[in-house]
Amino acid sequence: MTNPVPGSIFSRMSSDLLQQIRTGGEIPRHVAIIMDGNGRWARQRNRPRTFGHRAGMRAVREVVEAAADAGVEVLTLYAFSQENWGRPPAEVSALMALLELYVRREREDLRGKGVEVHMIGEADQLSPRTRRAMEGLVEHTRGGKRLRLNLAISYGSRTEIVNAARRLAERVLEGTLVPGEIDEALFSAHLYTARDPDPDLLIRTSGEMRVSNFMLWQLAYAELHVTPVLWPDFTREHLFGAIHEYQHRERRFGRVLAS
Ligand code: FPP
Repeated sequence: MTNPVPGSIFSRMSSDLLQQIRTGGEIPRHVAIIMDGNGRWARQRNRPRTFGHRAGMRAVREVVEAAADAGVEVLTLYAFSQENWGRPPAEVSALMALLELYVRREREDLRGKGVEVHMIGEADQLSPRTRRAMEGLVEHTRGGKRLRLNLAISYGSRTEIVNAARRLAERVLEGTLVPGEIDEALFSAHLYTARDPDPDLLIRTSGEMRVSNFMLWQLAYAELHVTPVLWPDFTREHLFGAIHEYQHRERRFGRVLAS
């Protein structure tokens, strides 16, 4: 998906929407996205699934830029789950190659735009080459101030939670922590997202009503936005639309609002 031509009706629509959300209420500090539907998008075109993933990479580029433009602080994208290792080896290799291509193509642009990239997930399950590429990107973009982009790769939320529990147990055994000191804040501080506020808004494309082992702890109070749009078709206008809808939700965090 390319950027709309400046001055065209599409760029006007997008900048009107951007203006509307910027003045219309709170911008979610953290937006998390389950990018789904690449395979179906490709099937609709009688093309292989990897064709859909490549198109999905273009949508990633557009949405990262849009999130920065909107003033979102943290964007977390679910790029590859631990369960995805079970896909056919050719698809797994294609997805890894695509991540490496993304790093090569986007590293300068991401740095130039002030995007700081982090990887969340089990990095040691990646091949040395993919891992080096991702770590290089993290290094290259360090210090970016406009947007923090978490790429969830080989990510599974249950594993993340188990690892946090294990680290806390180890600290208890070492004698640097007593069980009574473990509270929600300390637990959060042992997750990959320790530096981030919890997501305010979770977007899932392609209409599936599932959370698929994604940020189970962090999403406790997130607003959910499920759209039938397949990920490769998801544009900056869709992101701004989701934020606009979020701004009209009543967030109660389990309480009642004073009347
Ligand atoms: C889910 O669609 C999507 C994925 C498993 C991969 C997501 C990857 C990208 C968007 C491209 C590369 C990412 C980055 C960060 C450069 P699916 O294959 O499950 O689609 P389906 O449900 O229609 O089969």
